[in-house]
Amino acid sequence: MNAELAATTGSKSAPNRPLHSGMARFITLEGGEGAGKSTLAVGLKQRLAECGIGCLVTREPGGSPKAEVIRETLLGGEIAPFGPFAEALMFYAARIDHVDRTIKPALTRGEWVICDRFADSTRAYQGALGRLDPALLAALERVALAGFAADLTLILDVPVDVGLARAAVRRGTGASDRFEREGRGFHTRLRRAYLDIAEREPARCVVVDASLLPSAVLDLAWSAVEARLLQHADAAGSLS
Ligand code: TYD
Repeated sequence: MNAELAATTGSKSAPNRPLHSGMARFITLEGGEGAGKSTLAVGLKQRLAECGIGCLVTREPGGSPKAEVIRETLLGGEIAPFGPFAEALMFYAARIDHVDRTIKPALTRGEWVICDRFADSTRAYQGALGRLDPALLAALERVALAGFAADLTLILDVPVDVGLARAAVRRGTGASDRFEREGRGFHTRLRRAYLDIAEREPARCVVVDASLLPSAVLDLAWSAVEARLLQHADAAGSLS
């Protein structure tokens, strides 16, 4: 994650000063169904652009040609009969390709990367689905990612009923995917799992109230990016 970024000027919505950073950053967006991650990704990319920071938005499962193939089988429910640990392995098969083919090359080019879901989704979803031993999922993460992790994770927190209602509106008459079909109890455990991750890793994670309007969610998320990544770079002397 070390590549030069271009110099730039600020804007109304972004800090009103030139920003430079010697390090491209990796941001992950996490949360349950209907949390608004994709809308936030677009907004953050725009604000980074206003600071002259190039940014790649990607998503999981998927984000590389081979990982997109695995996505189809996972969301279609074909892996579900094998159980949550097998699903976790498949999410990791997709993730390894995505990291190697898409995320790391972009960071090396100096682009920031915003990823809609990453390793915390496996911890939270597969953990909440199968009540898998967290130590088992942590071991899988360690082996597969070898320490590669987000610089900042924004956890979009929304009450379960609000999230599920939003997801239903988004889906319209389309079919729900394998995870949207899980019951309310699952989605409640999922929300708790994300909040637990945030509590355990406060240096990496920031919880954002995603029940607010999209513009307010963006403002909160942007404040976290500024405080955790841009000002940090400033203090380290890599801004001019
Ligand atoms: P997607 O259509 O991308 O929806 P969303 O907008 O909710 O991100 O569906 C991805 C689904 O896959 C989502 O229900 C979460 C689930 N998932 C896991 O269960 N484990 C994982 O590791 C990842 C990345 C996603």
